[in-house]
Amino acid sequence: MNKEQFQLFPIKTDINKLDHLSIGGCDTNELVKEFGTPLYIYDEFTLTEMCKNFSKEFKSRYPNTEIVYASKAFSNLSIFKILEHQGLGLDVVSGGELALAESINFPNKKIYFHGNNKTRKELKQALIYQVGKIVVDNFYELNLLNELAKDLKITQDITLRLSPGIDPHTHTYTTTGTLDSKFGFSLETGDAAKAFDTANRMSNLQLTGIHFHLGSPIFELEPYAVAIDKVLEFISKLELDNQKQNLLEFSPGGGFAIGYIEKELPPPISSYAETITKTLKDGCSKYGLAQPKLVIEPGRSIIGRAGIALYKTGSIKVIPNVRKYISVDGGMGDNIRPALYDSKYHAVVANRMSDTRKDIITIAGKFCESGDILVKDINMPIINPEDIIAIPASGAYNSAMSSNYNMNPRPPILLVNEGKAKLIRRGETYKDLIQYDIV
Ligand SMILES: Cc1ncc(COP(=O)(O)O)c(C=O)c1O
Repeated sequence: MNKEQFQLFPIKTDINKLDHLSIGGCDTNELVKEFGTPLYIYDEFTLTEMCKNFSKEFKSRYPNTEIVYASKAFSNLSIFKILEHQGLGLDVVSGGELALAESINFPNKKIYFHGNNKTRKELKQALIYQVGKIVVDNFYELNLLNELAKDLKITQDITLRLSPGIDPHTHTYTTTGTLDSKFGFSLETGDAAKAFDTANRMSNLQLTGIHFHLGSPIFELEPYAVAIDKVLEFISKLELDNQKQNLLEFSPGGGFAIGYIEKELPPPISSYAETITKTLKDGCSKYGLAQPKLVIEPGRSIIGRAGIALYKTGSIKVIPNVRKYISVDGGMGDNIRPALYDSKYHAVVANRMSDTRKDIITIAGKFCESGDILVKDINMPIINPEDIIAIPASGAYNSAMSSNYNMNPRPPILLVNEGKAKLIRRGETYKDLIQYDIV
């Protein structure tokens, strides 16, 4: 593998004496022997390094920064514990993600609750756990939350999710900050200004700041700069009962990109940090605002590179002059991203890492959909049945978006570090799948 390809894999990636792919000091072929395929592996070192990197790059430029992990990228108790230990907060978007956090007593004040249609039950759950902030998305929620907080006789801190009308040039399904989006109060329509006014009048809600999230993954820095400046200007012009809006918190969300293929590597975290903190500082002085706490919400960029997916090859279909399909024992059930977003991936043969014989193949999944293709037309060594395929950058939104389509059990997940592997989610069994049905 070349230097760029290594950057797609966990930091602790090696090719060992047996020519096998090794992650976190563990031979992936040995792990496959023990746990089978498909198999997901997370490298603990990469995860903790990403946390440290974010803290270092943001806090050295803007000390009043809080790093909040967007748990939708991958929710898991062992991972949450590591993140808590690293001092990160948690962004949750459902009662389920919150329940996971509650089950390990994740510090409540470090939890941010997001979502465009939080249910009455979920809001109550968040109020009872006394989460730090509820990020209010719309007028319905503003009223409902106030009513629920009043019933519980508490005052809840909130921030408002704004929709700044900036296109971050990513897939339309993952673009969230434009006018035509289901998320947030739009600056353009006047809803955002109205939301400040309404929130400030709510008896049991304390408005502490704003949030926006442009989309994901964002490979450009410019959308962050333009959006931050636009939102700060908007805030500075708000006249609420002749008072300036006092902004304690400012969150430009997450969306920081990771490398999936060697030709598309993202800017380093330091560049995102420089753009965001500089625009925030400059904007505050330009518009006469006090510098708020900065809250960033990386998901993919914290966990994505740490994870790899391992599959075993099976059937091979050659269509002369058209394509060669190599099928693996997983697919869209554990990684829906190629089918949903046309996402690109790299792949290697984990049991013959230095094999240089070239072939152009398409890696197909085992699910009954023609769209179940993991990697299209990739240059790889000649592949045989029972080879082990590893796909890097599989840590975010794979397992998190997985399904039991075709009644396939979800794969086990391991955490590796310094040559040791620990099961952090057991693989599902047929018994697991059958247990929900009632005859
Ligand atoms: C509000 C919010 N914050 C943060 C994120 C995390 O995005 P990413 O995983 O790309 O960093 C998302 C992703 O959808 C989001 O909706």
